Amino acid sequence: MTISYFRTAQTLITGRDSISKIGEEAKKLGSKKAIIITDKVIRQTGLLSKVIFPLEEINLAVDIMDEVMPEPPFENLEQMMIQLEGKEYDLLIGVGGGSVLDATKVLSIMLTNQENVRDLVGIEKVQNAGISTILVPTTSGTGSEVTYNAIFTDVRDKVKKGIVSPYLLPKVAIVDPALTLTVPPSVTAATGMDALVHAVESYTAIRAGELTDGIALQAIKLISRSLRKAVYNGKDVKAREDMAMGSLLAGISLGNAGVGAVHALAYPLGGKFKVPHGVANSLLLPFVMKYNVVADLEKFAEVAKALGENIEGLSLREAANCTVYALTQLAQDIEIPSSLKDVGVTAEDIPNLAEEASKIDRLLNNNPRWLTVKEIEKIYEEAYKVDTK
Ligand SMILES: [Fe+2]
Repeated sequence: MTISYFRTAQTLITGRDSISKIGEEAKKLGSKKAIIITDKVIRQTGLLSKVIFPLEEINLAVDIMDEVMPEPPFENLEQMMIQLEGKEYDLLIGVGGGSVLDATKVLSIMLTNQENVRDLVGIEKVQNAGISTILVPTTSGTGSEVTYNAIFTDVRDKVKKGIVSPYLLPKVAIVDPALTLTVPPSVTAATGMDALVHAVESYTAIRAGELTDGIALQAIKLISRSLRKAVYNGKDVKAREDMAMGSLLAGISLGNAGVGAVHALAYPLGGKFKVPHGVANSLLLPFVMKYNVVADLEKFAEVAKALGENIEGLSLREAANCTVYALTQLAQDIEIPSSLKDVGVTAEDIPNLAEEASKIDRLLNNNPRWLTVKEIEKIYEEAYKVDTK
């Protein structure tokens, strides 16, 4: 057995209305001055009152900063730092989707490390632990509340860049499905597919292991049985609960086993074409899986079973291939764009996209099957040629 680490949030609180516990948690952390970090969309929904009320009950002074931009550029972080410096906050509370949570995680370490944020890009470049954080996801997808990486857009070279450090993990993550009830169908669909990709990729990753396999399979079961319901009836509380839990489990698995080629090929689409992360993953998922299946037939057959496919009487190869069918069908059912053409990519863009993706060794080295630049190009081509009628 190889040596492996398993890390997650120090405390995980789950369940409907679990946000009511945030005051007690802030008190346990000894906070005297906290700030909620969020974006303008979340602020307008009125969700923040559910976060602020329990904090007021313990008489905690709390400010709000709603400046996080979608898929945030580094400049966005630098601007927010100007507002945070010298204020002596001892607790940052991130309330929002993946962009908000990633920004909160990195602001906490920017406050305790002297380096420019761009110098923290890469694996374990962060020297000092950050200010305490409590992370509260309002979508079911990114798993950012339990991962120790954070992704930003470098607008100079139009690529996504990641900061990876255990110091990004929060003191507390509160995953309350009641906060996701008003998420619109298109966002539920894209973020839900992102979570499913986390589970499938981490389960079949090179770094997958005993600690993450069961977690990933349970995530696949919960997400595949409830994603359609959550998209088409957002008020279905049981479906939202499954999605919240599935996304959390997928995040725990992703945080420890990592993801692979779907994410590697999706990142250049986000950087250059501003395709939302979940949509980019969903577009590439069937084609990367088709390529990966032969690398681990047993595991892909297990994925098919967890996706609810009836694999009885099938050969291992047939069962494993069911994964590709089931994932394609699910993405179609929830009406996520299915061709690269739908998101503005032209055939001429493909060689450059492949070149960019081939540089993301961190993820490609974790994929169950090695990909050359030519093979990456072929996968983009397949995703481009899809008949969208
Ligand atoms: Fe993702």
